[in-house]
Amino acid sequence: MNYTSAEKMLKKCSQEHVLAYWKKLGKKSQEALLAQIGKIEPESLAYCRAALEKGSEVPDSSKGKAPKVAVLKGKKLVEAVLAGEKELKAGRVAALLVAGGQGSRLGYDGPKGCYSIGPLTDAPLFYFHARKILARQIRYGKTIPFYIMTSEANNAATVKCFEENGYFGLDKKDVFFFTQGMWPGMTKDGKILMDAKDHIFMSPDGHGGLLAALKKSGALADMKKRGIKSVFFFQVDNPLVEIADPAFVGYHVLNKSEYSLKLCAKRDPKEKVGVPMQFGKSFRMVEYTEMTDEQCNRKNKDGSLYFLYGSPAIHVFDRAFLEREAAVPMPLHLAFKKIPFVDAKGRLVKPLEPNAYKFEKFIFDILPKARTAAFLAFNQKDEFSPVKNAEGGDSPATCKADMQAKWRKWLGEAGVMLPEGMQIEIDPAYAIDAADIKAKGICLGAE
Ligand code: UTP
Repeated sequence: MNYTSAEKMLKKCSQEHVLAYWKKLGKKSQEALLAQIGKIEPESLAYCRAALEKGSEVPDSSKGKAPKVAVLKGKKLVEAVLAGEKELKAGRVAALLVAGGQGSRLGYDGPKGCYSIGPLTDAPLFYFHARKILARQIRYGKTIPFYIMTSEANNAATVKCFEENGYFGLDKKDVFFFTQGMWPGMTKDGKILMDAKDHIFMSPDGHGGLLAALKKSGALADMKKRGIKSVFFFQVDNPLVEIADPAFVGYHVLNKSEYSLKLCAKRDPKEKVGVPMQFGKSFRMVEYTEMTDEQCNRKNKDGSLYFLYGSPAIHVFDRAFLEREAAVPMPLHLAFKKIPFVDAKGRLVKPLEPNAYKFEKFIFDILPKARTAAFLAFNQKDEFSPVKNAEGGDSPATCKADMQAKWRKWLGEAGVMLPEGMQIEIDPAYAIDAADIKAKGICLGAE
């Protein structure tokens, strides 16, 4: 893009101020600014402005009902596992990881997936995800292609982490990195914010940016070419997740579902997780901030919580559904934040109060668009212990303790009794469940 076309585009979008310092910039800065402008689509600016005009209206969730959530046991569980195994053996399952977040609560300087979580080995979060995929590939004899969404800020470091670790045993050609989009920040009156004279403030477009990025990067086309039907979606911060769990994949397939969600009982009525609700024939994720106290605490006759289940963002999508939704725009969510900016005199201002909006998309916003959805309960302790905060709840300490407890349980089921307080770690490629441990017939100290 050259100056004239940049000026023309910005004028058309009433954003000429972006070039206000043009004459004061050196050649390199001018080039960098033009490159940044070149990446912005005028339609996305109009879309952001429309979202600003609409404001952050909170949808009414008062008529929401609790969806039917399956708890698989006995024959139903066996049926689901067999159906899932059939998909895996046919090579129709992919793994999709969103790892573009900033991890600001953890305060780790790097991609969260590179954060050390192995209790004994200090292995990074990515290790546990990749090794689980490897284990399933070995068990079912077919490739599970691994699609990883990164951000502009962490893509290079993420790829480096995989390169340096030999892709954790996976075949490089089956790991597909793609980068999520960025949106400019805007003031209340829809003006793009400059955080330097030669730089537009941009922020990642949220985990919902996944759909646009899957399409733009060619990842969706790659899935299609490989004959993928079911796409297992998960987040980077939960090393307990059972990736491509046959029961869940099978339940999804048996229900001919387009969007399936694993749900777990909330740890307390006001836990900060999204709660799926049914509205007529469709479903929507209701954020905890949108729920009234009455809804949070509503009880069934037996005293259990009416809205018992929350979503830890473990999903299976039908690939064709993702394709359909990637072709249409997703709603934007506004976050009013303190964003440093360059004022009319060219000085950098660090505001003390929120001054401008960031725009984000959320993946669960496509739930109402699913023609069929399915909900499956699981035990939180077994599969969900995210690393969100540096300390306290949902921290590395709680996550490591939950990992240990899970492995101890497996070993216990295989008859291996461990001394109290002994620290353990199991490579997922060695065992991904209690059955694996039993099959190995190990006794403590033998491996
Ligand atoms: P979180 O909502 O926990 O955000 O992301 P975060 O950025 O990782 O952490 P904080 O809030 O700054 O502390 C949930 C999942 O969604 C991904 C994250 O990488 C994580 O796997 N995510 C989030 C993206 O891929 N892109 C985004 O823009 C936001």
